[in-house]
Parts: sequence; structure tokens; C-alpha cells
Amino acid sequence: MKQNMHILVTGGAGYIGSHTVVELINSGKIPVIVDDFRNSDPRIIKGVEEIVQQKVIFKKVDVCDLNAMRKVFEEYSFDGIIHFAAYKAVGESVQEPLMYYNNNLNSLLVCLMLAKEFEVKNFLFSSSCTVYGEPESSPVVTEESPVLEANSPYGATKQMCERILADTTKSGTNIKVLNLRYFNPIGAHHSGFIGELPIGRPNNLLPYLTQTGAGILEELTVFGSDYNTDDGTCVRDYIHVSDLADAHVKGVDWLMKQEGVFNEVVNIGTGHGASVLEIIHTFEKVANLKLNWKFGERRAGDVEKIYADASKAKSLLNWTANRTMEDAIRDAWNWEQKWRNETTDNH
Ligand code: UFG
Repeated sequence: MKQNMHILVTGGAGYIGSHTVVELINSGKIPVIVDDFRNSDPRIIKGVEEIVQQKVIFKKVDVCDLNAMRKVFEEYSFDGIIHFAAYKAVGESVQEPLMYYNNNLNSLLVCLMLAKEFEVKNFLFSSSCTVYGEPESSPVVTEESPVLEANSPYGATKQMCERILADTTKSGTNIKVLNLRYFNPIGAHHSGFIGELPIGRPNNLLPYLTQTGAGILEELTVFGSDYNTDDGTCVRDYIHVSDLADAHVKGVDWLMKQEGVFNEVVNIGTGHGASVLEIIHTFEKVANLKLNWKFGERRAGDVEKIYADASKAKSLLNWTANRTMEDAIRDAWNWEQKWRNETTDNH
């Protein structure tokens, strides 16, 4: 395979993006990060540089800005694109649908138009298991499970983006597409230099939980206790973010080797479900503290139970998750403490 491959990573200062940049560098590739820090912080770039012990290439650009992005494409000859840059909060998308459609669709369109113009043949898209909605019969979803009507504008943008990519591959361009449908990424880099950085009050379970453990938030509410699951709480497929980052490297390597034009879809999860209570109990064990939590009402729109059939990721990309849920929670807790200790203005 070609040495010194340049990979454009939009949203490369974000949670999954920054971990992917680390693994791309570890695998000998040269990521070019484009991000405008609207949902991140320059200190994440510094954290990446601490881990890899080298400078990274970074451009502070809004991915929706076609002219600014064209300049980036003119400067580097990209071998592939990993497109993360998007808004991702389900609840916010219900309040601000136009903001979500505008940003998530336009950023993809800009990347694709430039991929076509500059003949970049490998395109990896950051998709989500949200496209499956509430699974009808079994909680285990394969890539063939039906894509159901999205229950949020955020979910709809992921479906629309997948459709745009599929249509593009049918239109005579030379772009090969891999959509990775992630389940629930959690954890942080084991060094503690990078991790999830929710702006404001977190929506997702893990940052809410670690901030409660750190005393920043008072109490975690477990949304619902009467689901049809073993302990009554929702079940998800929680995957360590560094495993997810590895999947992107495997995905890029796989794309580079393929001939022809196609639109491929692969689930990225562990294949195991864990309940909210299991997460809390594991956290209490690894952090060695008692978490302040209570049961509350169900959260609107929550799926009861969903986890991945991850066999295609293994057979196609030769990828499987290596880290445990305990590793992920320990790393998330380490990150939470390190970040709070090293900065005074992060509360
Ligand atoms: N939960 C709580 N309390 C909280 C936060 C979450 O009990 O304060 C529960 C939720 O009810 C759910 C589980 O923790 O059962 C996980 O919730 P998250 O918000 O962390 O994750 P979701 O599964 O709701 O969302 C994730 C991604 C979305 C994606 C969605 C698809 O964050 O991007 O999966 O199902 F769209």
C-alpha cells in the first residue's frame, strides 16, 4: 500500500474524530484535520499531539464553506476522506431541525462535490445505528435490518446522507463509499489526553455519569425502570471509542484495496448489550465510589434494546472490538478526572 497517505478527517477535533486521528497516525497515515471547534476545543489537538509526539496538520475551517474547503483540497492530494463533521444531539435536533439539516447535509455535499472534482476515490462516512430506529422483532440488528423512519431530525440526516452517498455511487463517479454505523461509543484514550468533551450539560449516559461521579452534576437520572429487559433499564451496545477509531483505520485500508464503485454499510459495535444499571455498577466498581443516582421517567424516543450483529465488520474489515466495557468506563473516568484537574475553566 502507498506510503504517506493523506486522509482528510472532517470533524477531526471531535470525540470520535480525534481518537481516529491518533490511530491513523499510529498506522502510518497522514491525517489532515478540518474542524472549526464549534463542538470541540484546541486543547484536544494538543492532546492528540501529546499522544503521538508529533505535530498534526490542522485547518480551522467550516466544512460547509465550499471555497475554504476547496483550498484545503488544492493544498493536499487526498487518498481518502473520513467525514465526521456533523451535529449529533438527538434532543437538540428536534428543537433546531433546520440547523441540523443545513449543517449535516451541506457538510457532506461539500465533501462529496470536492471528492468528485479532485478525484478522491475513497470515502468513509460516519453513520449511526439510529438509522434502524426501534428494532421490530429482535434487538440484534444486521446491516440487512430495515431502516425505519427516523424519530429525530438527527437520525433523518444520517439516513439522508447515506442516501446521498448511495445515489452518488450510482451516478458514474469513481467514489467508493463505506458507511460505518456506530453503536454507542464511550470511553477515552487510555492516556487520558483526549476524550469526550460535551459542551454544556451532557445528554449521553457516560459523560453524565462521570460528571456526577466527579461532583459537577448532582445526580444521574436513569430514564425508565420498567422496560422489558432483565433489570428494567434500556440496553445498548457500548463500544470503546479507541476500538471504533481502529475500525476507521481498517475501513480506510479496506477501501483502498477495493476495485470498482460501491456503497457498503457495516455495523460497528461489540455485539453485546449492556443495561444502564450494568454501566452504573461497573462505574462504581472501577471508580470505587457510590454514585448518586435515581430512577426517573422514560425519556421520549428511547429504544428499549438494541445491539449490533458485528459479524460483517469481522468478515469484511477484519475488525472486532478488543477492549471491554470496564476498560472504556475506566478510561472515561480517568479522562474526566485528568481534564478537570488540569484545567480550571472547564466546569
Ligand atoms: N440514559 C439515562 N440517563 C441519562 C442519559 C442516558 O438513563 O442521563 C440512558 C438512556 O435512556 C439510554 C442509555 O442511557 O437508555 C444511553 O443513552 P445515550 O443518550 O448515551 O445514548 P442513546 O442510545 O440514546 O444515543 C445514541 C447516540 C445517538 C444515536 C442513538 C441511536 O448518542 O447519536 O444512540 O440509538 F442516535
